[in-house]
Amino acid sequence: MAGYGALSEAYEWLIRDDLVTPAGAAARFDGLVTSLPPGARVLDCACGTGQLAVGLAGLGLDVVATDASLGMVRRTEELAAEHGVSIQAHQVTWEELSDHLDAASFDVVFCVGNSLGHAEGAAGRQAALAAMARLLRPGGRLVLTSRKWEAVRARGSRMDVRDRLVRRNGRDAVVVYYTQIAHAWEQEHHWEIAVAQVEPDGSLRTCSERLSFWPFRYEELTAQLQSVGLTVETTTFEPDDGGYLLVAGNE
Ligand SMILES: C[S@@+](CC[C@H](N)C(=O)[O-])C[C@H]1O[C@@H](n2cnc3c(N)ncnc32)[C@H](O)[C@@H]1O
Repeated sequence: MAGYGALSEAYEWLIRDDLVTPAGAAARFDGLVTSLPPGARVLDCACGTGQLAVGLAGLGLDVVATDASLGMVRRTEELAAEHGVSIQAHQVTWEELSDHLDAASFDVVFCVGNSLGHAEGAAGRQAALAAMARLLRPGGRLVLTSRKWEAVRARGSRMDVRDRLVRRNGRDAVVVYYTQIAHAWEQEHHWEIAVAQVEPDGSLRTCSERLSFWPFRYEELTAQLQSVGLTVETTTFEPDDGGYLLVAGNE
């Protein structure tokens, strides 16, 4: 199971400053969004706390948001209500997408923010990508953003404490990641993440969770995309960069 039960409560402290508002999250995909017809139907299939889904709805797109975590789906619904936009949000895993959504019914499927690393190994990733590809209309596109897992594994197991307090909703927090790298690529890896919010009296309110992930090489990803009928159209992957944005199409 994906996790993100406890962390759904404090997830905004883990989001980059420029992506923490709906407008900021959607702006990252400006070029793609402006190429879509008005009212195009899009799915964010790992919606987290909903910044991207709500931002896209604010631009007039017809948005469905899904996530494995009920806490995340509830936060997405709350954010949509706060911003006065209408989206459909459902607790649905990638494995369950085909049971809930019609084939060939979306112009774009987003799976962003390093989410795909939570699919269980090569087989889980393949099944997830196949389920996403099946939802795309002819000419549709899958949009992925990911860490460069090659770099994450190369750094080895380690503790990272953010070098400054992160401020969200008027409250500062200390953010700590412990990355546990397994011996082999295909094994289950772990993150322990803690968000310690500083209360007005100086005490800390800590929320933490242990998450599993299965890293993948960029070449493995592109081969798997090909095998589900998707061809990379654009990618920002560079051997020396820390992350990338990839768009793959089915035509
Ligand atoms: C790192 S968060 C990214 C959230 C959001 N896309 C963002 O960019 O902030 C990963 C998300 O993937 C979801 N997730 C993990 N495994 C999943 C699965 N099998 N099916 C659907 N969602 C999953 C988690 O619940 C979590 O919300």
